Amino acid sequence: MVRWQCGFGSFCRELRAKRMASKAKSRPPPPPEPERPTDAVVQGDDVQFDRTLRPRSFDDYIGQTKHKENLRVFVEAARRRGEPMDHLLLCGPPGLGKTTLAHIVAHEMGVELHGTSGPVIEHKGALAALLTSKIQKRDVLFIDEIHRLSPSVEESLYPAMDDLIIDIVTGEGAFANAIQIPLQPFTLVGATTRTGLLTAPLFSRFGHVLRLDFYPPEDLARIVVRSAGLLRVPIDQAAADTIAQRARGTPRVANRLLRRVRDFADVLGTGSIDVAMVLEACKRLEIDEAGLDDMDRRYLMVIVDHYDGGPVGVETLAAALSEPRDTLEDVYEPYLLQQGFIGRTPRGRVATRKAYGALGRGVPVVKEEQRKLFE
Ligand code: ADE
Repeated sequence: MVRWQCGFGSFCRELRAKRMASKAKSRPPPPPEPERPTDAVVQGDDVQFDRTLRPRSFDDYIGQTKHKENLRVFVEAARRRGEPMDHLLLCGPPGLGKTTLAHIVAHEMGVELHGTSGPVIEHKGALAALLTSKIQKRDVLFIDEIHRLSPSVEESLYPAMDDLIIDIVTGEGAFANAIQIPLQPFTLVGATTRTGLLTAPLFSRFGHVLRLDFYPPEDLARIVVRSAGLLRVPIDQAAADTIAQRARGTPRVANRLLRRVRDFADVLGTGSIDVAMVLEACKRLEIDEAGLDDMDRRYLMVIVDHYDGGPVGVETLAAALSEPRDTLEDVYEPYLLQQGFIGRTPRGRVATRKAYGALGRGVPVVKEEQRKLFE
């Protein structure tokens, strides 16, 4: 049984009082969502844009069709029964739409989403406060980077997920008092870039596990056209296709590149986006045909030039590039691996023939023989 040791028993009474008060208040209706962003929103920064361009319903969501259609069924089934949906784990590299899907699930269920992230929930008390004071019936609790929960917080999540209770201990020593607080039925939506780091007990508690894939260029091109419409930027199909080709299979990258091209189009052109404008922007931003940027090339160059094509340990690469290991593993490597620019072996990362090609180098003859082992 998980216990929350706390020296201030009044906290729990407060929690209960808060819950009763918040239950008594009926939830205000959500504000109507604008069909199009206002100009004020359109002027905002990149983060704001990400939210602005985020689809709010399954109908607006492009790509990941198999997962989307299955989720649609699970949401509808739960809605008809008046129950929360089973807990959902969303896995995949950053920018593929895990947060977006969590918001869509909540929106389509007609409930609130309460968002937090693994490292932010510092102790069991913070989780207890969140679950008892904020979550109302059938709400969604979204925990991003769920693989980074501390072990004690993770353990206290188990009875919450299984039995809708949270165990806490009030008082100390002889005055310690264990109480179980019942929770409102809720859906936990966890997101992780690193499924392998999730413990088996946590992983097994999710009724649905969705592994998001990189998007094909056709889907990304549709996303670019939709986003350009929301931003009110004229774009032709060939330009959208070119952005899609260079977007690393990732909607967030596609939307970011669209915004950069729009900057160039506004300043250097007529404000409309055509292929020439996309190519000019990509040249200036040093994004190549495969979508590789300066950091990707530096990564590949370290393996090829400094370590003779590898294998190189990820810690060594991180030190050479002055980047945290997690950033390499979460952000850069998934696409390089998926596209076959690198291979992963027990002794470290190796550059493939494709990597030599991307850097404009020939594969050394000796390496070519060794490399065939990995390709
Ligand atoms: N913007 C970002 N991701 C999207 C998606 N999957 N569908 C539509 N618009 C998006």
